[in-house]
Amino acid sequence: MWSLLLLVGVTSAFPDILRHKYDGEKVFRVIPHNQEQLEVLSNLAKHMQVDFWHPDSIAQVKLGTTVDFRVEADRCSEAEHLLQLSGLNYGVLIDDLQATLDAQFDNHVRSSGHHYEKYNNWETIEAWTADIANENPGLVSRLQIGTTFENRNMYLLKVGKPGVNKKGIFMDCGFHAREWISPAFCQWFVREAVRTYGKETIMTELLDNLDFYVLPVLNIDGYVYTWTKSRLWRKTRSVNAGSRCNGTDPNRNFDAGWCTVGASKNPCDETYCGSAPESEKETKALADFIRKNLSTIKAYLTIHSYSQLLLYPYSYTYDVTKNNVELNTIAKATVKELGTLYGTKYSYGPGASTIYPAAGGSDDWAYDQGIKYSFTFELRDTGRYGFILPESQIKPTCEETLIAVKYIASYVLEHLY
Ligand SMILES: *[C@@H]1O[C@H](CO)[C@@H](O)[C@H](O)[C@H]1NC(C)=O
Ligand SMILES: *[C@@H]1O[C@H](CO)[C@@H](O)[C@H](O)[C@H]1NC(C)=O
Ligand SMILES: [Zn+2]
Repeated sequence: MWSLLLLVGVTSAFPDILRHKYDGEKVFRVIPHNQEQLEVLSNLAKHMQVDFWHPDSIAQVKLGTTVDFRVEADRCSEAEHLLQLSGLNYGVLIDDLQATLDAQFDNHVRSSGHHYEKYNNWETIEAWTADIANENPGLVSRLQIGTTFENRNMYLLKVGKPGVNKKGIFMDCGFHAREWISPAFCQWFVREAVRTYGKETIMTELLDNLDFYVLPVLNIDGYVYTWTKSRLWRKTRSVNAGSRCNGTDPNRNFDAGWCTVGASKNPCDETYCGSAPESEKETKALADFIRKNLSTIKAYLTIHSYSQLLLYPYSYTYDVTKNNVELNTIAKATVKELGTLYGTKYSYGPGASTIYPAAGGSDDWAYDQGIKYSFTFELRDTGRYGFILPESQIKPTCEETLIAVKYIASYVLEHLY
């Protein structure tokens, strides 16, 4: 499979033949309860190609961690055998990944043009950023903040009524390429902003008094790669000197305890921290924009999936932040609001103690720049579909997340600093 990828160059819209197929691949769930079971998992990770869905790597697995991972087709029975031997209770979340994907993919081919309740490819999203700005000149403008490794333009939408000295909230989506629900939410948010401005009280007040800076996709190259080659790609697509493996984990690439914990120095790993902080053009562009506009930006929101979590700093240390109590209070109230619509349950807390320590994340970095309201969302679901969340869940997921984001933004507006 990988040798095939090496032979081919740039491809067009639906190069189905060049796509990585996931036939017979399974996604398992286990919870290790003793040291021996932990070792069985480590051995699996060492001896076969295991793609960790949750947590992000084997290094982050502890006793009692719910572990979701994907195994290549021809190693599935061996993996199951080993799990059974060790007495690990395991479940199969997805029995045949390609079959599940095929059922979903039919929808993609059928639709063309931009749809808020479908996943859109980058070409469509890029055109959409121009259209929505052109159609809403008094409310939305488009800025370019940089280019990606493969030279795509990184567009940022500024959403808000023009005014002097307005404070802003920065929100980005699409850090990790395979988390498709994330860019879908950024698009949904901008649409709801323009659709309900002047009609709905809270949104109107927010946009009259704040600017939202929305980056619909940070890791555009990776996102394109998930559409054209490999649906489950996570990292950027930059070339790593001296390695056959491409890509850096953009959410390990920030200057916040960089590469000290929960990140890897091996370019072949999914949590590779990069050759230096901000080694990626994409993370550098984001960091540059925020640094330049620090006096304006009062909150930072970054949208990931999956797990249904609302996290706040720190992740690179177990130390708590100065306003830990305040962040906890906001998070608690936010997840309560989010749940009012469909009863969706979120957990919340500081990253390190709520999930696992991980350095180099953008939320920690933004916080240490002085942005005291910094949150990471991990959207739906809790593992039934994981990264391949069906399109039927875009609408409910975005609706409930919008409530949450509006709640945080209203809080920030009342507590400007
Ligand atoms: C890594 O990226 C380079 C440049 O885009 C590409 O030519 C090469 O095929 C990629 N290698 C893999 C293993 O994807
Ligand atoms: C961000 O900062 C730069 C540099 O000071 C400035 O030119 C730009 O107008 C600012 N952008 C926004 C959207 O405020
Ligand atoms: Zn992510």
